Amino acid sequence: MCGIVGYKGKDEAYSILIDALKKLEYRGYDSAGIAIWQNNKIVVERNKGKVDDLRKIASKNILKGKMGIAHTRWATHGTPSERNAHPHKVGDVVVVHNGIIENYMDIKERLHQIGHEFSSDTDTEVIPHLIISYLEKGNDFVEAIRLTLKELQGSYAVAIMRENERILVAAKKESPLIIGLGDDEFYLASDVPAIINKTNRFIFLEDNDMAVFRDDKILLMNTEGENIERKINTVNWTGAMAEKGGYKHFMLKEIFEQPRAVSETLLGRFKEEKGEVDFEELTLPELKNVKKIWMVACGTSYHACMIGKHMFEANLRIPVETDIASEFRYRNPIISKNDILILVSQSGETADTIAAMKEGKRSGAYTLSICNVLGSTLAREADGVIFTHAGPEIGVASTKAFTTQIAVFFLLMLHMANKLGKMDNDEVRGMISEIKKIPHKIQSILEHTSSLEEIARRYMTSKDFLYIGRGIHYPTVMEGALKLKEISYIHAEAYAAGEMKHGPIALIDEKLPVAVISPRDQTYIKTCGNIEEVLARRGRVILFTDDPQHEMAKRVDNIFTIPETIYELLPILCVVPLQLIAYYIANLLGTDVDQPRNLAKSVTVE
Ligand code: G6P
Repeated sequence: MCGIVGYKGKDEAYSILIDALKKLEYRGYDSAGIAIWQNNKIVVERNKGKVDDLRKIASKNILKGKMGIAHTRWATHGTPSERNAHPHKVGDVVVVHNGIIENYMDIKERLHQIGHEFSSDTDTEVIPHLIISYLEKGNDFVEAIRLTLKELQGSYAVAIMRENERILVAAKKESPLIIGLGDDEFYLASDVPAIINKTNRFIFLEDNDMAVFRDDKILLMNTEGENIERKINTVNWTGAMAEKGGYKHFMLKEIFEQPRAVSETLLGRFKEEKGEVDFEELTLPELKNVKKIWMVACGTSYHACMIGKHMFEANLRIPVETDIASEFRYRNPIISKNDILILVSQSGETADTIAAMKEGKRSGAYTLSICNVLGSTLAREADGVIFTHAGPEIGVASTKAFTTQIAVFFLLMLHMANKLGKMDNDEVRGMISEIKKIPHKIQSILEHTSSLEEIARRYMTSKDFLYIGRGIHYPTVMEGALKLKEISYIHAEAYAAGEMKHGPIALIDEKLPVAVISPRDQTYIKTCGNIEEVLARRGRVILFTDDPQHEMAKRVDNIFTIPETIYELLPILCVVPLQLIAYYIANLLGTDVDQPRNLAKSVTVE
């Protein structure tokens, strides 16, 4: 979704900002713009389309100056167009904004009555107009911004400049904004990957914080006008981690990074001689009193929750409820203060998941986030946090975040099962030895991808796909179908295999590829029956199994064998070929794999 970058320092801002905007492209956007402060004037360039198109237009102008702000817009209010693109310049004030101003209609109406003319359809435009109105009342620039921010309802991350004032002001509420600290220079960005090649020292702004960059200093204050202090964090990601490293797409690179990502997520978690999983950083509530565990997330992270539910219920015998975050609070969930609410999010900035956390906090439940991004809102604000160590995930379609989330659920389940006395140390030790083998097993899948490319070629022209699985494999097929939809734009539907005869079986004919996960586990016999049903209707079965002697092996069109592991960990292995098939199909079709149409990496609005 919308991305913000800013720079104030000793170098030319233009190329620094364009470079950072390029790095934000992965978040998804439809227009882009830049404003450079030069010789007391501010030059603005913006357009519909990509950052490269902006670069073409902007390069006709000589944009020279050592301070500037830039933006990628993902349309919410008003179509993607030049007039709606940011920065918005009103009088001598220029603003970029991420978020939604909920009371913009009221403000617009009021300002309109006192003579303000609006030139876009956006909610954002009220911000510079309000600032101007406060300047006209005699306030200085920073105070005019502060008074404006206090009037805004909804969410914002903003960066603001004014002609004739060599000051850059940034502020945030419920939308992400970070400050990067260089040598006598400051960066602003919506996320770490945008500026990680410039610095690894960051200040993560909190809600209602304002940062005023004047001369070579930053003044941090809140919207009440009080001075505040924020810690400087060092992030151990490197610039190279946010580069493609020779792969054609980030998504492919990230699929291939999964052995390392899972290894790093496991690192330092085991006290093997004792047979314990270590979460020293957490102060979980007394588990004996926990009546229910909630797992709430969006998109791929939600599928990880569904897998977590299978693991937790089977091994802890505590009821688990999973919820899509955008639905959660609207159904008035009955959360008790003895519950644990687990929020899962790669970015830690998904607006609905943050709102779900707040709902949990209101009920007094213990909130625990599983996040990939240090300093993100969910990481900071939940009562406890466990980091997946997947490294920056740039491809919009999530891959390595998913497998590391499953690994975290598994570790947490072992930790809790042990504490509850449901698993003794020997059992935990046995389970630890299984997950330690997983990175190597993923690697072995990644070394045999040619048959998956062949399957992709065979079915790339199909209009629909069906994915089926049972038990813990049902969420995995949901994830497989989601991957295909997201990046190839082919319609794909996932069903619990046993439910197929209640509807989707009507779709099956000789044209329909049906992907089936059927390892030799408790789901085996029943899923064999479902494969028979598909074959009887001449559907094209693509079978994923850990058993080369699968009784359907000779009768299906395609079979891909994955290594064996325990039931709880099969999703990590089964999803890898599904990710790859989706990738290879999209690549053959020539879609924009890393930035699929209409999608955003980080959904920061509800
Ligand atoms: C967007 C992304 C998905 C992601 C979902 C949840 O839709 O495109 O890949 O799964 O948001 O994101 P989160 O950062 O909360 O895991």
